[in-house]
Amino acid sequence: NNMLVFQRTAFHFQPEKNWMNDPDGPLFYKGWYHLFYQYNPASSVWGNIAWGHAVSRDLINWEHLSVAMMPDRWYDFNGVWSGSATILPDGRLVMLYTGSTHESVQVQNIAFPADPADPLLLHWVKSDEHNPVISPPEGIQFKDFRDPTTAWHSGEDSGTWLLAIGSKNDSGEHAGMALVYRTRDFVSYELVAGVLHSVAGTGMWECVDLYPVHTEASFGLDTSAASAPAVRHVLKVSLDDDKHDYYGIGRYYAENNSWVPDDPDLDIGVGFRLDYGKYYAAKSFYDQNKRRRVVWGWSGETDSEQADILKGWASVQTIPRTVLFDAETGSNLLLWPVEELDTLRFAGKNFTNLPLPAHTVKPLEFAGTTQLDIMAEFEMDESSVKATMEADVGYNCSTSGGAAGRGALGPFGLLVLADSIRSEQTAVYFYVAKGVDGQLTTYFCHDELRSSNANDIVKRIYGSTVAVLRGEVLSVRILIDHSIVESFAQGGRTCITSRVYPTAAIDGAAKLFLFNNATNAAVTVKSLTVWKMRPALMRPLDHHLVGE
Ligand code: FRU
Repeated sequence: NNMLVFQRTAFHFQPEKNWMNDPDGPLFYKGWYHLFYQYNPASSVWGNIAWGHAVSRDLINWEHLSVAMMPDRWYDFNGVWSGSATILPDGRLVMLYTGSTHESVQVQNIAFPADPADPLLLHWVKSDEHNPVISPPEGIQFKDFRDPTTAWHSGEDSGTWLLAIGSKNDSGEHAGMALVYRTRDFVSYELVAGVLHSVAGTGMWECVDLYPVHTEASFGLDTSAASAPAVRHVLKVSLDDDKHDYYGIGRYYAENNSWVPDDPDLDIGVGFRLDYGKYYAAKSFYDQNKRRRVVWGWSGETDSEQADILKGWASVQTIPRTVLFDAETGSNLLLWPVEELDTLRFAGKNFTNLPLPAHTVKPLEFAGTTQLDIMAEFEMDESSVKATMEADVGYNCSTSGGAAGRGALGPFGLLVLADSIRSEQTAVYFYVAKGVDGQLTTYFCHDELRSSNANDIVKRIYGSTVAVLRGEVLSVRILIDHSIVESFAQGGRTCITSRVYPTAAIDGAAKLFLFNNATNAAVTVKSLTVWKMRPALMRPLDHHLVGE
């Protein structure tokens, strides 16, 4: 069936078949990037969770390896769940992961490469002698204790490490929290008093990530980088209750085991999200090869389980994104596809100064629109903004009518994966509200409501506000890859990922449009560049080429 074949991605990571969820233990080792992931070797629905494994030289082209860890011990019999890698100063690797035991108790286990000289890290040895190394502490439910982070130096002395584990406190306030453990040898661990952070009402914290960012420099920091005036710590949490990844930027105090958000109004659950779309269980790592922090995120399916069984696979990973502190706004992160992605671009075409008057839809002449990288810049005509009185205060991407709605200053943007009569389209757009004081608030959204004519799809309108500083044009980068649309507004201040399942707008029938549905705003597309994207290499590793 054409539709089902069409949905497989060309440059987003996916296994050859079956179910995938969280990225696990990403790292760079002896010239190779490694990605492990939650994997069901037997089917395209969640279960029998093992660690799938793939390697890459550039984070874009991947070679699939054999499963790294199977659920074959009593301490992980119900699943080798999520975990993280730590690279010790002497180069040794430690993998910490959650095992769901034969009795479904969540415990933490350790595993090591069988042969540290093997750059592919093909074989992993679980420590039967020591596992489980951490069991749920007093007062914690046995199913609320999972997903250990990469460990960081405590600063007390060079031999002491700390790591965080997600949990929740069920005594009344349903507070999610992160617990911290101290270890010297990764075999014995001690619970550090207090909690790293906790937020009432947020529920179970999954896949906690804690890492430093530099507030002035544009390079990444090792997880163990010391606190300094120009260093902030990002706390990222995946909220099991609403399945979104939230982050806060704040200060980490090792001396009293606490992380404090810079702005309490931007705490976990109420502040920023790493992505406002279908994106969950992100995990970052410090890439010592290119001195950057890179974050992976899982984008699940929004079709039915029945469809996933027919396809024989489920889920993709989003393009790995570099993470930087946004020095311009001073309040958020910037996420941007790793630079290596650009090597897949070809046949680029540039358009400049295209007028996009109020209430227009304009087809873009461009053949082959199912694998694209697009950069676009929009500018609203100043006189139409001036002529607009107060408009659309309190706009909300998800509930204010989407791309079909008409406001004074929006929506305008692109329609991607659309067929010629637009019976199907995914809208990526800006929407600007104007306050009584003349202040503009910009929203960035995805409207999936018309993304597919299939009737088994969950379709949403996603989005949020995006900071636009004085003198900036509205800019967006959009990656289109068959069944995934990933967008980055204003250099990555706000990101949205959609999974879409066109039935008509596939292969040669998929088109691209510009649209402006505003009543007042005349818009100019200052610049628009569209590149086609080559498929990335994604195949089983040819051991002969590597010269094992
Ligand atoms: C997040 C998660 C983790 C767990 C894993 C199990 O998606 O639920 O908390 O370790 O997936 O597959």
